[in-house]
Amino acid sequence: MNKNDSERIESIFQSMNMISTDKPEDADVILMNSCSIRESAEDRIYSFSHKFAKLKEKKPNLIVAVTGCMPGRDKDGKLRKRLKAVDLFFPTKDVIMLPRWLSELNPELRPIDLEEDYLSVKPYTKTKFQAFVTLQTGCNQFCTYCVVPYARGMEINRPLKNILAEVKNLVDNGCLEITLLGQIVNHWLAKKDDKFSKENPYKQNDFAKLLWELNQIERLERIHWTAPHPIYMDEEVIDALTLPKQLNFIHLPVQSGNNKILKKMNRKHTHELYLEKIKKIREKKPDIAIGTDIIVGFCDETEEDFTDTISLYQECDFDISYTAKYSNRSGTLADKLFIDNVTQDEKKRRWFLLQQLMEDIVLRKNQTYLNKNVSVLVDTFKNGMCGGNSREMKRINFPGQPDLVGKIVNVAIIEAGHWILWGKMV
Ligand code: 5AD
Ligand code: SF4
Repeated sequence: MNKNDSERIESIFQSMNMISTDKPEDADVILMNSCSIRESAEDRIYSFSHKFAKLKEKKPNLIVAVTGCMPGRDKDGKLRKRLKAVDLFFPTKDVIMLPRWLSELNPELRPIDLEEDYLSVKPYTKTKFQAFVTLQTGCNQFCTYCVVPYARGMEINRPLKNILAEVKNLVDNGCLEITLLGQIVNHWLAKKDDKFSKENPYKQNDFAKLLWELNQIERLERIHWTAPHPIYMDEEVIDALTLPKQLNFIHLPVQSGNNKILKKMNRKHTHELYLEKIKKIREKKPDIAIGTDIIVGFCDETEEDFTDTISLYQECDFDISYTAKYSNRSGTLADKLFIDNVTQDEKKRRWFLLQQLMEDIVLRKNQTYLNKNVSVLVDTFKNGMCGGNSREMKRINFPGQPDLVGKIVNVAIIEAGHWILWGKMV
């Protein structure tokens, strides 16, 4: 989501006739789009700000700005105090004010008028064939470890017509694949006056209805979305996984396999409910690839609790997991109510155990693709090799030509590694 916000910011800069540079020492404006999800992400912003403060000593007119999650959650100003030489510090939704603020600091920068809602700013993307589409920002869920509801505020859903107009415009400009974004994407809610087609088969879940509408857009080839919450994976959303443009992959965060920890995390689902959802998904789509997010070493997680996560992992046979060591975030409920009492070494040990398990499972699963054909959207070409993702979000490499970038081709798999499958075009 931050990447998609950065694309909006880039388009604002372009409207102001500014051009980008890879060299910070050449810049008149440096804007950092911060992430707060873990401490390490915020630490990076502190260290960049110290680096840029040195640049500012040599170039006093340089404007340094910080947006994203840090300003959003910094209610008492403590985070800003730790940053050096930052001129502007504002949450993402205020990005529409950026042209005015920049022109006040540097009159050579021309202000422009923007719509009031920052989500209406059209993102700038370098590649035309893939795009993010934000459906929703903010979150009402308050998982106890998570900073998002503080950083991004309460859930705000975009109207259906804005989403459809954005996607149609992308497709008219050659977009083949969209990734729908939301903190709880399957909880996207339509507005009262949003009108779905009469033929739309879904009656309960607005997100499923939206997926159907998007499936009707000609020339759009692939639809992907992230991240859903297990409690909103109802029958309709599971059924919508069978729609033709839907990728054959779902990323469904579980966070832990232990019921005591899930309760402490305020996840509102159990180990059993999660397994039931995976079972239903596989009944509809037996060969779907599944990914998840896991946090290890949450407050009071014992070795025994952790074994429940291992067993859930084995049972779900995940293709990929983004596993994180729990990082205490100031202001969250876990910070207020619990003690971060699992040692770093123990967090690391649990992280490595899961990582090993993931590598074993994924290699076995990837080998099932040998001698099969997969469809690949080519997104890179380097040293005679094309690269792209299959519909299962497996990374595929094969010998090809640069003009295949942006095209969908069939590839026969001849070799399978952990993170890359190699093949030849058929
Ligand atoms: N510590 C570690 N990981 C976290 N995540 C969210 N908050 C924390 C935290 N405090 C992880 C969750 C989430 C992903 C985006 O980041 O697994 O799904
Ligand atoms: Fe954070 Fe939970 Fe909301 Fe996801 S659902 S953004 S983990 S509070």
